[in-house]
Amino acid sequence: MANAKKKSVFFCSECGFESPKWLGQCPACHQWDTFAEAPVSKRMSGTVKGIFPGNTHSTPARLNEVKADEEERIVTGIGELDRVLGGGIVSGSLILVGGDPGIGKSTLLLQMCRILSENEHKILYVSGEESPKQIKMRAERLGDFSSNLYILCETDLVTVTEVITDMKPEIVIIDSIQTMYSEDAGQAPGSASQIREATGRFMKLAKNLPVSIFIVGHVTKEGVVAGPRLLEHMVDTVLYFEGDGVASYRFLRGVKNRFGSTNEIGVFEMRQNGLEEVLNPSGYMLQGKPENEPGSVVTCSIEGTRPILVEVQALVCQTNFNMPRRTAAGTDYNRVNLLMAVIEKRLGIRLGGYDAYINVAGGMRISEPALDLGIVAAIISSYQNQAFDSKTVCFGEIGLVGEVRAVNLSEQRVMEAAKLGFERCIMPRANFQKLNVSKNALNGMRLSGVSSIYELLEVI
Ligand code: TYD
Ligand code: MG
Repeated sequence: MANAKKKSVFFCSECGFESPKWLGQCPACHQWDTFAEAPVSKRMSGTVKGIFPGNTHSTPARLNEVKADEEERIVTGIGELDRVLGGGIVSGSLILVGGDPGIGKSTLLLQMCRILSENEHKILYVSGEESPKQIKMRAERLGDFSSNLYILCETDLVTVTEVITDMKPEIVIIDSIQTMYSEDAGQAPGSASQIREATGRFMKLAKNLPVSIFIVGHVTKEGVVAGPRLLEHMVDTVLYFEGDGVASYRFLRGVKNRFGSTNEIGVFEMRQNGLEEVLNPSGYMLQGKPENEPGSVVTCSIEGTRPILVEVQALVCQTNFNMPRRTAAGTDYNRVNLLMAVIEKRLGIRLGGYDAYINVAGGMRISEPALDLGIVAAIISSYQNQAFDSKTVCFGEIGLVGEVRAVNLSEQRVMEAAKLGFERCIMPRANFQKLNVSKNALNGMRLSGVSSIYELLEVI
């Protein structure tokens, strides 16, 4: 029994990679110095083995005999949240809500609790970060609360699980997973082994009771506490709350969902009295857009299933350095470099002596290739110091030889642009030829199909 001597195991606090010995660099995520030790005997509770109720003998069942009713869902009443969850909270699911500290995770969940508790759902909000008084102060900004919402300020994992088991609420919020502490798991609160231990226990509780559990996880820039990425594989649903620190927009993005489609986004605005849903994100994203200024181009991205118009800005100016500076905010830096190389080679525009700053306005991060045409148009517009028509939208993917390639869901993009009153839409020719949009929906908008970036130059 050589194994009996083995007392600890090591795993990466970034991605959860497990190893029998300490490693300087993680072979999975290539981060340095992220390995932490955890006692091996406690490991099992950190995994999801044996969590499914009524499955004690582990005998295989015939799939065609398994009964699967439509999942029961609790609709939260916050439309943008329901959309990202795939139509509401599935009973017995474990949901991770990640995001930077201060982005609004606690606020969003407390708002959800407010609506649900008013609809006669029994809810427990466990906070390891704030006192009941602090929670109350926040709650007062959000409105009146019903008596079905219970608050527990506690960080001890055993106590928290006992309270949940006794009380049997329908929904539990754990705010945050980094504050939960169990003596069994060794190490400090927030360490990788503590987080795994706590998540494993909540997973068991969620499936056994059943109760739906929301886990708040702070995204940490570096080190001391482990980040929520570590738990992504253990939970049913992963939502990230993002936005730039300055603007008041907040985007709730689904990156994993066992009960719905991923990549849906919900859009919110942080107000004085909590988060407000943004029902027309395109209009919202284009607020304050400059008219007829060089370097500003509107393009259309598809986020999940819905089209959103965004403004791409470029500033191209002569460099004072040996190496020109390039930055890309809100989009992929390497993609921008590639597009600049395509412009240089295919259009013969010498960008080598120019700095270029690209920004997707509004704090949204978009990596969809359909943005390419907008980025290229913005760069050229800024380089030539000529405004791009502010009533024109353009979208399309650009290939390495300067061809404009078709993108998916072009009808939705065109209709969104028409709905917001744009007068012209420049799009890939392949999409243009197959487009199936009624004259009515076009609302008088003209369409231009282009098949290369030379043609883009011709039509603008
Ligand atoms: P919070 O939900 O505490 O963030 P997290 O839980 O993700 O750390 O959000 C805190 C921020 O939101 C804080 O800077 C104050 C702001 N806020 C408002 O602007 N309006 C409000 O109604 C509330 C409750 C908070
Ligand atoms: Mg919080």
